[in-house]
Amino acid sequence: MASGPEPLGRGTIPSPNLWRSPEVYELENLASDRAGVIDAAIGALHPWAGARVLDVGCGSGFHLPQFASYAAAPLGVEPHLPLAVAARDRLRGSGIGVIAGSAEALPLADASMDIAHARWAYFFGPGCERGLAEVDRVLRPGGLAVFVDNDVSAESTFSRWFAAAYPAYDPEGVERFWRRQGFETQRLVIEWTFERREHLAAVIGIEFPPEAAARFVDECTDRADRAGHTVDYAIALRWRHQNPTSA
Ligand SMILES: C[S@@+](CC[C@H](N)C(=O)[O-])C[C@H]1O[C@@H](n2cnc3c(N)ncnc32)[C@H](O)[C@@H]1O
Repeated sequence: MASGPEPLGRGTIPSPNLWRSPEVYELENLASDRAGVIDAAIGALHPWAGARVLDVGCGSGFHLPQFASYAAAPLGVEPHLPLAVAARDRLRGSGIGVIAGSAEALPLADASMDIAHARWAYFFGPGCERGLAEVDRVLRPGGLAVFVDNDVSAESTFSRWFAAAYPAYDPEGVERFWRRQGFETQRLVIEWTFERREHLAAVIGIEFPPEAAARFVDECTDRADRAGHTVDYAIALRWRHQNPTSA
């Protein structure tokens, strides 16, 4: 996408899948959790209706129109400028705002949001204390911080692939980190559902190194008659309510 120096905010971690291949990433988002399992789980933790929703690391703004359909006007924050621009283009005329910024320095007033959400939020993990403090600052008392990420230690096809392709990832360390931060974890299983095998293969190609991706695509071909172009995918919802007495 962009050439030349990246306008990185403090703490910004590159996202090669989305930064390099936004069209394929769009296919991934379209295939992901069509049943709405994640949004239903979030709605059980904090009512969507009327909530001011912040989407941290909103990328090209894929989830914001959905949030707008059941919450008050949501707002996206994204540090990678080409994506912030793409999100604004997607949302032009919708009344949904997107601000360039990162989790570590949220360009928002104190206690201005009800739900702070981040999806596929690898940048919230061990070492992200500064971002968590910012989320706490912008949430009103009783507001919800909720981050969606892979659940690598769970049983699912995607978890097995992830653990095989990225052996340095330390799921136990990640669990310890969230416990120390006082977050609860809700474990869910969603699905990728693709109409076309080529789309599934392209998405696997942006998520995993080439050799591993080729193996996983072969595996999908072997079982396509049984499972179609679907992949079961375990996720972890890390969540915490902002302390009602802290603001
Ligand atoms: C895997 S993408 C997911 C994008 C979007 N949430 C979605 O589901 O389509 C992760 C996003 O987080 C952004 N990001 C990386 N580091 C960040 C940080 N420190 N604060 C906020 N966003 C960050 C990346 O630029 C990228 O857009």
